[in-house]
Amino acid sequence: MALPGRVRLVEVGPRDGLQNERQIVPATVRVGLIERLCDAGLAVIEVGSFVSPQWVPQMADSSEVLRAVLGSPRCRPAVSFPVLTPNLRGFDAAIEAGAREVAIFAAASESFSQKNINCSVAESLKRFAAVVDAASALEIPVRGYVSCVVACPYEGAIAPQKVATVAQRLFEMGCHEISLGDTIGAGTPGAVQRMIEACAVVMPMDRLAGHYHDTFGMAIGNIYASLELGMAVFDSSVAGLGGCPYAAGATGNVATEDVLFLLQGLGIDSGIDMAALLVASEYISRHLGREPASKAARALLARRGGAA
Ligand code: HMG
Ligand code: MG
Repeated sequence: MALPGRVRLVEVGPRDGLQNERQIVPATVRVGLIERLCDAGLAVIEVGSFVSPQWVPQMADSSEVLRAVLGSPRCRPAVSFPVLTPNLRGFDAAIEAGAREVAIFAAASESFSQKNINCSVAESLKRFAAVVDAASALEIPVRGYVSCVVACPYEGAIAPQKVATVAQRLFEMGCHEISLGDTIGAGTPGAVQRMIEACAVVMPMDRLAGHYHDTFGMAIGNIYASLELGMAVFDSSVAGLGGCPYAAGATGNVATEDVLFLLQGLGIDSGIDMAALLVASEYISRHLGREPASKAARALLARRGGAA
């Protein structure tokens, strides 16, 4: 199959990336990062989560971040700024802060569901149905995530059919797009393709997105394998945020710069400007006191003589 001519990138660095960083990044820096990502042409930027601050203290200021972003002249109205909402309480708080798009997050693994959101997969789907109903009453689009689509840190390999079942439930519930999360980055191209093929039987390919963490350096290969099947939406994090690349068990998302480099090489349009993206990458890397995890960013900055 011909590769897609255009790809949409969903920038998840300010949420998935920063939720996993050991240091808590202040709201002002998170807003500065999101403004720079807007400058780079990202059209969807996940800005935070309305989850329990006991569970994820890094995302505690998400109301403040969302309000500031919505009020910033640099954050164009055409950009969408979804936030994660695990339950009605989070949804109400997100709406109060001005959210116009939300995301719910289920898992294909029972153990991961328990560890992540403290309930079974079935119970989570009930909670999410309530969020989707509330959102649909306000005409708020809802994106659905499925975690552990290839493997679970507690249960090991996950069967593609299990992923497809949860994806289908979220889709039928009313999610406009289902993002397939290789949470621990254990996927390799063949396994990822088998998983996508199972999902594409129960819902249209153009409603599926790939969300690959890069723990084993396989994410770019997995994106290419997904493009081959016609997938055209991918989640990524500027600078490969999320977990220090030098620490054991680090699980950052695939870096936006690496994905953009791949897409440019393939002649696939994404509307993103690499030079402006590198500004965002340097900005957050400088704040974190380290180089971007992105190989493309490091190579391009070195060529330019810039320091991250
Ligand atoms: P729980 O403890 O079972 O919830 O947590 P609860 O209903 O019993 O409430 C306990 C306390 O939390 C109460 O406060 C609630 O009010 C409060 P207390 O009365 O004790 O003071 N609470 C909340 N506070 C703020 N916002 C809320 C909220 N809800 C309850 N929305 C809960 C259940 C879901 C809340 C918790 O487990 C949680 O917050 N989990 C979030 C975990 C998380 O954010 N994980 C990361 C995102 S998922 C991800 O990264 C994967 C993804 O990237 C894809 C991939 O890579 O696979 C998307
Ligand atoms: Mg993730």
